[in-house]
Amino acid sequence: MPHVTEDGVLDALKTVADPDRGQDIVALGMISGLIIKDGNVGFAIEVDPQRGPHMEPLRKAAEEAVHALPGVVSVTAVLTAERAAGARTAPQQQQAAAQQQGGPQGGPQGAPGTKALVPGVKSIVAVASGKGGVGKSTTAVNLSLALTTLGLRVGLLDADIYGPSQPRMLGISGRPNSPDGRTLKPMENYNVKCMSMGFLVAEDTPMIWRGPMVQSALSQMLRDVDWGELDILIVDMPPGTGDAQLTMAQQVPLTGAVIISTPQDIALLDARKGLNMFRKVDVPVLGIIENMSMFICPNCGHESHIFSHGGAKLEAEKLGVDFLGELPLDIEIRETSDSGQPIVVSRPDSPHAVNYVSIAERIWAQVAGSIGQGRQAPKIVMQ
Ligand SMILES: Nc1ncnc2c1ncn2[C@@H]1O[C@H](COP(=O)(O)OP(=O)(O)OP(=O)(O)O)[C@@H](O)[C@H]1O
Ligand SMILES: [Mg+2]
Repeated sequence: MPHVTEDGVLDALKTVADPDRGQDIVALGMISGLIIKDGNVGFAIEVDPQRGPHMEPLRKAAEEAVHALPGVVSVTAVLTAERAAGARTAPQQQQAAAQQQGGPQGGPQGAPGTKALVPGVKSIVAVASGKGGVGKSTTAVNLSLALTTLGLRVGLLDADIYGPSQPRMLGISGRPNSPDGRTLKPMENYNVKCMSMGFLVAEDTPMIWRGPMVQSALSQMLRDVDWGELDILIVDMPPGTGDAQLTMAQQVPLTGAVIISTPQDIALLDARKGLNMFRKVDVPVLGIIENMSMFICPNCGHESHIFSHGGAKLEAEKLGVDFLGELPLDIEIRETSDSGQPIVVSRPDSPHAVNYVSIAERIWAQVAGSIGQGRQAPKIVMQ
């Protein structure tokens, strides 16, 4: 296969002119972050945030120019508004970026605030928390597997582009194919289709993402992937209530969100923060799962409540959301998911696996009830 070089890509991009300024986008210094890997090309086009909404045709033209090169397998061009960002406040930047992505030119369906549904995907559920390390990824993978046992067609989108976990948890390595050079085929194991930044970037490559690039990456992992027919797509969210969450909440027609909390986390109000974020953007919170609820001693089976216990249940009641269930802190849950054989597939008869399945049933009961109501992504107004 012909070797793709940086010079070759830049030469191709020189044929693309900025419509407003007449010159080519390379001469104007708009190209940055060029990455070439096995024929997969990625780069950013820096634009003034004001112009973001009108730049989609330019982005497409740049992708097409590079795609025409021999040896190019896929091209991902993202618009970034970083350059002019110095003078702007964070919320303004987010708004500009949101317009870029979700504005009139941003999606196939056009209208602002009505993000295109993902064709074939009936429902999308985010697994989120207020803070990191509480077990979102572990819960997301086990719930995905539990949903397959209900006979559902399931996808898992690893939205943590800084620290993707799902390739490891699902035991998948390798790179996704792109037979048509435009959409990626998701990877698959245990009947779950998965897309993760971990498939696209080497594990030891430091990733430096700027706000608008994060948003593009997420929306491309969602929409430029050939998910096929799915009953439910679980989204493993990154920690926090920042950009990525807002993007998902705004751009993705989420059917609902599930909040993972440890008992002490809820006491610290982190989970409440997560919950409030989804409520603010009008995404229904399907309920709270308490993770690491108690410790079961592997030797004697004694239950100890290291992080206290029951906080999430009380909090769920107070907040008026469903309490979906609780999972203990158990070394088996950690070992199995960290080794690519989550407990729901490796020990389907264990009490934890049964527990995940009953939580999945509760989630699916709510999701099934709201599918087909055609809710649209809400519009976020930054203050
Ligand atoms: N119930 C549990 N029992 C034992 N270990 C667990 C449990 N839940 C999660 N873990 C372990 O805790 C660690 C953190 O979990 P995980 O990666 O799922 O959290 P996260 O919320 O996705 O983290 P991040 O915010 O970094 O994405 C992992 O090593 C995982 O195996
Ligand atoms: Mg995680």
